Amino acid sequence: MDRRASPADIATSSVYLDGIPHEGFTAIRETEGLVWHPYGPIGDGNGERNGFWAVARHADVREVSRNPEVFSSAVGHTNLWDLEADALEARRSLIDSDAPDHTRLRRVVSRAFTPRNTRNWEGMAREIAAELVDAFVAGGGGDWVAQVAAPLPIRVILAILGVPLEDADYLVELTNHLVEGTGDGPSLPDDAYGNTTPTRLLPFNSPASHALFEYAERMRQLRLADPGADLVSGLLEAEADGERLSANEYRNFFQLLVFAGNETTRTAMVHGALAFAEHPEQWAELCHDPSLITRAVDEVIRWATPVLHMRRTASCDTELAGTSIAAGDKVVMWYAAANRDPTVFEDPFRFDVTRVENPHFAFGGGGPHFCLGAFLARMEIQVLLEEMVARNVVLQPRSAPVHLASNFVHGVASLDLGVAS
Ligand code: HEM
Repeated sequence: MDRRASPADIATSSVYLDGIPHEGFTAIRETEGLVWHPYGPIGDGNGERNGFWAVARHADVREVSRNPEVFSSAVGHTNLWDLEADALEARRSLIDSDAPDHTRLRRVVSRAFTPRNTRNWEGMAREIAAELVDAFVAGGGGDWVAQVAAPLPIRVILAILGVPLEDADYLVELTNHLVEGTGDGPSLPDDAYGNTTPTRLLPFNSPASHALFEYAERMRQLRLADPGADLVSGLLEAEADGERLSANEYRNFFQLLVFAGNETTRTAMVHGALAFAEHPEQWAELCHDPSLITRAVDEVIRWATPVLHMRRTASCDTELAGTSIAAGDKVVMWYAAANRDPTVFEDPFRFDVTRVENPHFAFGGGGPHFCLGAFLARMEIQVLLEEMVARNVVLQPRSAPVHLASNFVHGVASLDLGVAS
């Protein structure tokens, strides 16, 4: 088949140890049509066969996102690797489904994440942010990830779910292992956390998913016996189209919310803090005019692009950007590339809190899977910036961030920042 080969490697997870390979993405964006990128072991022919169409331009990401009948989330998988049918079924959650299943599942949770509900959680998030920022400043700085960016979103999502806050560190540990599952090899022995399920049946192929499922089940038992006003009780009581969530749907939901509710927002807070430390004039501008904070929130999210890509699979023969796509082909939307598309963003590599036109795709390119937690994530980042502006906290870079080897989450393991006195 006449396929244009990718001019750069954007799939090997270790590439991301040096940050997003922006030069490679630029080369792909500038190549006419779509490029075919190999995936998996190269040399035996499988890497080539298992490859994907790399979608890097903003307009093309939008087109894929908004045509779920053609670019399916349920056929295949929304991560790069393929799953056998039984594995796909065992792991299926909101994110790996199409209408009508997706519509039904989404209805169960969308009520919880409306802007109105999100505002109800603001006071709680602000208290957590203030406490963490005060402690960070009192300690003269340190690892921003461990001290602020990780604890804030996990505590917020756990409070929403009704999960005891003392388990926050354990759940962060588990979701960190899930991100490691998107690296170039397994990070845990298959039997870690007492797992006996074949890892191919577990989300992110990780035994940590087994531990998260067990945790979800304990919460289920607890809330069935003693329901409250929390989201776990809500999920257990929710009836969508007259049907309750099945046990499998519930635990996949729980896992998705704990993962998506913490790894992503954390990543935005890390890259945002680093950007302000490296661009002190932007921070000064924000402190001078706090009405810019809402714009700054979206610029932080665009800059960070915490989720690097999502995959779809063509459900029929089709065409995109003048390139023929065959039914069954993987089509991967690289938000990291779309968010630096110069045809949409003026001076895209400039971090600019005054940016007015900022239609970034960090939460997805629109369509039915658009991030459920977008209001929540924005609120948390806004509250953090507001609390920092109120205290005039000036962050300073002390050493380079330690990036994770993941082609899926733009993750940072640690980031040492100082505080100007
Ligand atoms: C800055 C933080 C966040 C970013 C960058 C982000 C990004 C994304 C992206 C790219 C998608 C896929 C969109 C698509 O396929 O079209 C998504 C979906 C999702 N996100 Fe987020 N997310 C963030 C925060 C959150 C939070 C706080 C929650 C917690 C509730 C959350 C829950 C979800 C869920 C449940 C989905 C699946 C939605 C569906 O398939 O219908 N996200 N997110």
